[in-house]
Amino acid sequence: MRLILLGPPGIGKGTQAQRLQQQFGWTVIATGDLLREAMANRTPLGEQARTYITRGELVPDELVNQIVMERLQSLESFILDGYPRNLSQAQVLEAFLQQHGQSLDAVLAFELDDEAIVARLSGRRICPQCGAIYHIVANPSRAGERCERCGATLIIREDDQPDTIRRRLAVYRQQTAPLIDYYQQRGLLIPIDASGDPETVYQRVVHALSL
Ligand code: AP5
Repeated sequence: MRLILLGPPGIGKGTQAQRLQQQFGWTVIATGDLLREAMANRTPLGEQARTYITRGELVPDELVNQIVMERLQSLESFILDGYPRNLSQAQVLEAFLQQHGQSLDAVLAFELDDEAIVARLSGRRICPQCGAIYHIVANPSRAGERCERCGATLIIREDDQPDTIRRRLAVYRQQTAPLIDYYQQRGLLIPIDASGDPETVYQRVVHALSL
């Protein structure tokens, strides 16, 4: 399975990607996670990315394309979460897959109103160690302020501040939303209603992909 998860920040792409990975074992390539890991390790890539991420802007294409292509090299099945993010990234991905005799199976386009998205982002907590995603109301950790999987103390993402959330939503509309038409024209787009709890959304995903 070669899958793209498309949708605005905070709609639940990472949550659904982790469930698919747990059930089917497909590798998830989440560009946001890779960039945050680089930031935490203070690598040159991380230091470059930080200025963009904390402002809610996209990290330059050449940096992101490189980290994705390196990881795609050896994979037959994958889930892309947070990539591509604009038309130029989508074209780079298409060329790469063609070169390797591969094609996408589907692009899941998650849909939800902005008010619900902001509520999801405002209550998000993440595990800085294993990447588990929680929500203080919808999906709290059973270990309180610690990760129920690995025990690390949960944190709020640097870009989950109100001003940055607004900017990320605007960037999504300007730069990422045009990908909906792009993949629709290629017959790959499957809209997914992202309302309801994570399990309800997951069942819609599984049904849409006939899994
Ligand atoms: P990235 O990490 O990709 O962030 P994003 O796309 O903004 O998406 P999020 O991770 O915020 O949300 P999500 O949809 O995964 O939701 P989640 O499952 O966590 O990117 C961050 C930054 O990195 C970008 O702004 C950019 O700067 C840079 N970047 C990344 N990729 C790039 C690229 N390709 N090019 C350039 N720059 C790039 O869920 C959110 C919350 O809701 C959680 O609390 C969760 O528990 C909760 N939740 C999930 N599902 C439900 C549900 N059904 N009901 C209730 N709550 C739910």
